[in-house]
Formats: sequence, C-alpha cells, structure tokens
Amino acid sequence: MKIAIGNDHAATDYKNEIVKFLEKEGHEVINLGTDSHESVDYPVFAKKVCNVVVEKEADFGILLCGTGIGVSIAANKVEGIRAALLYNEYSARLTKQHNNANVIAFGARVMGIDLILSCIKAYMESEYEGGRHQRRIDMLESCGC
Ligand code: RB5
Repeated sequence: MKIAIGNDHAATDYKNEIVKFLEKEGHEVINLGTDSHESVDYPVFAKKVCNVVVEKEADFGILLCGTGIGVSIAANKVEGIRAALLYNEYSARLTKQHNNANVIAFGARVMGIDLILSCIKAYMESEYEGGRHQRRIDMLESCGC
C-alpha cells in the first residue's frame, strides 16, 4: 500500500518507528514531516497528508501529534477526509469497517508505540463493509461536514 504520514514535533520519534515498520512490511511511505523536534504547527502537517489522500496519491494517511486531537480536528476540516483518532485495536478495525476512515490519528504522548503499530496493522487488515454504513458516510458528505 501507499501511505502518507505526517506529525508535529511531539511525535517525530514515533513517526520514524512507524515508517520503519511499514517499509519493512513492504509498503511505500510518503513522509511529509516534520522530521525535527523543533516546535511546529500541527495543522500544517495534517493538511499536507490530507491533500495527498484527497488527491488519491496515497491509499490512506497517518497523523500524529502529542494527543492526536489537534491533527484529528485539523484533518476533519478537509473536505473528503474522515479522520479517526484511535486508541485500541477494536477502534482501528471498526473505523475501517464502518466509517471507512481514510486518515488515522494517534497521540504520541498518550500511547505506546507497540499499541500504535498494532492499531495500524488492525486497520490495514480490515475491510470497509459498505451497506448501511455508506448511507451514513453519504450523510456526512452531504451535510458539508
Ligand atoms: C504540542 O505541544 C501539542 O499541543 C500537540 O502535539 C497536540 O497534542 C495538539 O493537539
């Protein structure tokens, strides 16, 4: 798969671990930064990842900041993005099956790297179920959310 990833300064080390993991699994990763620990503004990186996802240059996006909340809020303001802030494998599976989330977000200061990697794996192994869920996604899009 092709995966876009972006983060702020709170999550650079975790981002590097995730890139290593995904590349080892044979995926192509588009790393949109930041690669530094200097303070940056998370909306900038959220927008970069979302633009790549909306343009279909990646199959999905991963965003990280300290809590995961800032990048989630930013991502969900981009038309066509359904970003899910994940915290366990169940939410990871369900957001693919039911919400067809195209961006997944994590808080690097609130979760361990092993749990984040398991969530990414669970999301990637899950399939969107369509059916009644598509009606609800259509509602999200038609209300201009
Ligand atoms: C940066 O200090 C922090 O505010 C950011 O990483 C994130 O947690 C915001 O939601």
